[in-house]
Amino acid sequence: MARIFVPADAAARAVGADKVASEIQAQAAKRSLRVDIIRTGSRGLFWLEPMIEVETAAGRIAYGPVRPEDVSSLFDAGLLIAAAHPLRLGRPEELSYLKRQTRLTFARCGIVDPLSLEDYRTHGGYRGLQRALSLGPAGIVEEVTKSGLRGRGGAGFPTGIKWKTVADTPADRKYIVCNADEGDSGTFADRMLLEGDPFVLIEGMTIAGIAVGATKGFIYIRSEYPDAIRVTTQAIAIAREAGYLGSKLAGSSHAFDLEVRMGAGAYVCGEETALLESLEGKRGTVRAKPPLPAHKGLFAMPTVINNLISLASVPVILSEGATNYADLGMGRSRGTMPIQIAGNVRHGGLFEAAFGLTLGEIVMDIGGGTASGRHVRAVQAGGPLGAYFPPSLFDTPYDYEAFAARDGLLGHGGLVVFDDSVDMARMARFALEFCAIESCGKCTPCRIGSTRGTEVMDRVMAGHDREANLALLEDLCQTLKFGSLCALGGFTPYPVMSALKHFPEDFGRAPNRDVHAHAAAE
Ligand SMILES: Cc1cc2nc3c(=O)[nH]c(=O)nc-3n(C[C@H](O)[C@H](O)[C@H](O)COP(=O)(O)O)c2cc1C
Ligand code: SF4
Repeated sequence: MARIFVPADAAARAVGADKVASEIQAQAAKRSLRVDIIRTGSRGLFWLEPMIEVETAAGRIAYGPVRPEDVSSLFDAGLLIAAAHPLRLGRPEELSYLKRQTRLTFARCGIVDPLSLEDYRTHGGYRGLQRALSLGPAGIVEEVTKSGLRGRGGAGFPTGIKWKTVADTPADRKYIVCNADEGDSGTFADRMLLEGDPFVLIEGMTIAGIAVGATKGFIYIRSEYPDAIRVTTQAIAIAREAGYLGSKLAGSSHAFDLEVRMGAGAYVCGEETALLESLEGKRGTVRAKPPLPAHKGLFAMPTVINNLISLASVPVILSEGATNYADLGMGRSRGTMPIQIAGNVRHGGLFEAAFGLTLGEIVMDIGGGTASGRHVRAVQAGGPLGAYFPPSLFDTPYDYEAFAARDGLLGHGGLVVFDDSVDMARMARFALEFCAIESCGKCTPCRIGSTRGTEVMDRVMAGHDREANLALLEDLCQTLKFGSLCALGGFTPYPVMSALKHFPEDFGRAPNRDVHAHAAAE
């Protein structure tokens, strides 16, 4: 029977993948052909979704973007033998967008049936756990430390050090918490992995549990991800049934189990301590540190709280070895990062690569520039609290330190592209308004400052006493940066000040020379 792979990823479903799947079934039935439709995750080439693949003796052949009305002509052309058709893309692995990637964490995404444990294992799944069991807790922590893995949630804190702190803190109970709140604008890596390869997270969290001596884990998934919540919940049940969760997991003496929790719908609930409050059933407000969650986290017990991508990167680090991972990247940014290219961009999607590509390569070469065909004017890196980069900074390597040196951050790996029709003063106002709306209210600079800042921007944009108001804005940003309790207030100045610094003309100031030099060069 012919096997056809159709993504069930939310991004593919949003552009009609379900209807394409039903149409394939209907057209096959009409022609008395037998097809087995396998719903996978997405390969992450969003402009080609729904991208379907047909299995042949020479591997899979992709077609896309397929609309339901294309299906009949695909069958007429000979879809089941991967025949020629205007939508035929060839072998997916040969598409330059995929060929140029180093897929480690996302190696299976878009390929396997996300709920088939057999598929997972056939594609290398649970080899990391096997090695972890042979290394033992201290060996696992050492291996993760050696890999150079840093938190993919935003702060870039070394994962191995965090795990060691929890491992070294004595307690009756410890927890592993996966932060899948994924609130950053332009990010979707967590969602894609949950929908496309949930067992890799389950395996990563299990390894974390063994490493630090935790027997219980929670996956906190944002409420806007119903598909991810459903798939992950089913995957946990399947893993438990197969003995990969529960007591004596995978035939070992270890116990570990997982539960999914739905996020409370606030950006600040992605902040680790607010998330823990929310998990405990309380309102998501930020806790003062210390104590660190590693010492006193969920229900006051030592807790590893990691971003989903950090945890899901652990199985491949264990199975292929820390050195293999650490050999990739640049400087202190080791391994790969699933870069999420979004906004006004031609080739939006997920691009997993070793650190070190330049921002320009990612946006112009890989992303293909804007979808509108106009000049790129700005790229916001690292979510709503990230800086705006002008094309004159496109030589910045994708690296934690290189971005920080230019007053930016990688955050969770999101890039949002804007063309030259963007008004950067409006974007600066938006950052302050976002902070005002999302502030948990615990500290004054953020609670009050964000609202005052929005008002100041309104006066700037209306042309009222501009210079005095811009001076006030800069002063307020200093207060937010240094006086806020958490990074929501503390990082809001980044988009605001980068917009003012790189695009002063949108604020009624004289333009920068470098911007013009670059525009002339384009
Ligand atoms: C306002 C705010 C929102 C955040 N949202 C997220 C989020 O959605 N997902 C995430 O993993 N980390 C988020 N973080 C970072 C977390 O506080 C924390 O650093 C992270 O979960 C640690 O995991 P990691 O070391 O694996 O990155 C946020 C931080 C702040 C200040
Ligand atoms: S900076 Fe804002 S979000 Fe963070 S603790 Fe203060 S009020 Fe809450």
